[in-house]
Amino acid sequence: MKRRIVVGALALLGLAATGATAQTYPNKPITMIVPFAAGGPTDVIARIVGEHMSRTLGQQIVVENVAGAGGTTGITRGARATPDGYTIMMGHMGTHGAAPALYPNLRYDPTKDFEPIGMAAGTPILIVSKKDFPATDLKSFIAVLKERGDKLNEAHAGVGSVSHTTCTMFMSQIGAKSTRVAYRGTGPALNDLVAGQVDFGCDQIVNLVQQVNAGAIKAYAIATPERSPALPNVPTTKEAGLPDYQVSAWNAVFAPKGTPKDIVARLNDALSKAIDDEATAKRLLDLGGVLPTKAERSGEWLGQFVASEVARWTPVLKAAGVKAE
Ligand code: MLT
Repeated sequence: MKRRIVVGALALLGLAATGATAQTYPNKPITMIVPFAAGGPTDVIARIVGEHMSRTLGQQIVVENVAGAGGTTGITRGARATPDGYTIMMGHMGTHGAAPALYPNLRYDPTKDFEPIGMAAGTPILIVSKKDFPATDLKSFIAVLKERGDKLNEAHAGVGSVSHTTCTMFMSQIGAKSTRVAYRGTGPALNDLVAGQVDFGCDQIVNLVQQVNAGAIKAYAIATPERSPALPNVPTTKEAGLPDYQVSAWNAVFAPKGTPKDIVARLNDALSKAIDDEATAKRLLDLGGVLPTKAERSGEWLGQFVASEVARWTPVLKAAGVKAE
């Protein structure tokens, strides 16, 4: 009898601690790890949603850029952080979809080592080049790549990143090779594309709208069934003659496994409120982001989606013969 009372008391203490934690959470700033360099799409989306989440939570969300290895360095750090709600991370289709196929020694499992918080934004992929690339449309661009792609520099954000994964798919589909140049993010990669230091890439729309509209780079096609309202003059890959190249990326918030459920719920609520906020939504939409529907907002939905993304990308990348290590 006595033992049962002790066990009961300990359980109540545990519940109380969790409850108290959630009630006082957050009582200090929250770190959001962005696994790429500042200024790229992952960083931009993190800062946009993080700003409004800070208002809801009453504590600053501080972005920490931890780049390297296609985003897996930062996500590994996030997965190993203390699961107390004070470290979260912005992952995406690369870090939580493609990475297992490319990194045999990956130090996290996207389907097991996280508490999925919620989807932040879908990000259609565009095929882009420096502004003076000798092509006027997707067909002539592909013709140049097939003729001398191995002499052309393709900028990406590291093996397993969205830019790397989606251009792997593109080059595999058109049967061409390139000289691949890795950056710590497509923010810095875009600077070199604008400067004409590299020739082309596949990147998320939220990184490209401003430079495409300024004529600083050329966009040949967007790899979605419909054109983007943010770039209405960019044809779809179907219109441009490569209908099979259909790919969109996504960016989503995760916490380390073991983060208390009440805290996960607070973070999910803050993210959902950010997406519902008119000004925040407009910033994402103006950059070509696609907002998650209500049904796509839960952590449970994100967990199932991540599992499907890992299952989707693994055969595609193995077929393309890509390996990071
Ligand atoms: C990627 O290619 O995975 C991202 O665009 C990298 C970034 O956000 O800089």
